[in-house]
Amino acid sequence: MRILVFDSGLGGLSVFAPVRALLPQAQLIYAADNAGFPYGRWREDELAGRIVDLMAALIEEAKPDIVVIACNTASTLVLKRLRNTYPVPFIGTVPAIKVAAKSSRSRMFSVLATPGTVARVYTKELVARFAPDCRVKLLGVRGLAGLAEARLRGVEIGRDHLAKLIAPAFDEAAGGRTDTVVLACTHYPLLMAELENAAPWPVNFIDPAAAIAQQVAKVAAAISRDVEGDAKPEESRIIFTSGIGENAALANKLKAHGFALPPQILPGWVRGRAHDGISG
Ligand code: DGL
Repeated sequence: MRILVFDSGLGGLSVFAPVRALLPQAQLIYAADNAGFPYGRWREDELAGRIVDLMAALIEEAKPDIVVIACNTASTLVLKRLRNTYPVPFIGTVPAIKVAAKSSRSRMFSVLATPGTVARVYTKELVARFAPDCRVKLLGVRGLAGLAEARLRGVEIGRDHLAKLIAPAFDEAAGGRTDTVVLACTHYPLLMAELENAAPWPVNFIDPAAAIAQQVAKVAAAISRDVEGDAKPEESRIIFTSGIGENAALANKLKAHGFALPPQILPGWVRGRAHDGISG
């Protein structure tokens, strides 16, 4: 059983880790389109085309039995198109609005995501469908995924800076206040301790990674009868679309996740202009 976990960067590690823990026999391949990072800033049509094309190359390279799109910004845009294009099963990561609506007692919750994810029709439909009786704030946070990437490289994140970035997610109104914050970008759970520390009051931060891993295990169990298992290598593969530079802290983190280093670089995906200029 080969499982490909995909994200724009290293945020998908928040999903990769519970998948690895739940399916120790599976061969895992992690792929990051770091040449395209951050996805939150891209024009939708350009980003969709890039992900669909890149997925063809990754499927060819990794020959996965299951693909996990460990990225809300990608899943809310192209999950359906990927499923229509390739025969392999895709498991997506979309904002856990249904979970928040079920658990919020104050009926006030916020969704922290990239500017791309909050702008998606898909996300707005989730709110309309699952949380019609809640006050839901969709907050596109510029630069937060980048901070999570920096954290992985050993950079300390200032509490005040983070507090300012997430402050708009915390509202008070007529006797109630925000009690739940959905982490709708896979990078954000990598900053869970920092986020809890920067919150103006305690809230339930929802990280959907464990639920996604359960879903992967379910799909794996359903197809395992038909899939020949290869011998599992000692280490997992990691593929990037551009170099990651030398960084000891990051190398140690990647080793701790069980990856063989140096990472493999998939050539041909570095663009002249990484995004359309929307800041964040
Ligand atoms: N990890 C991605 C997500 O879940 C987003 C990061 C980015 O902007 O590329 O949405």
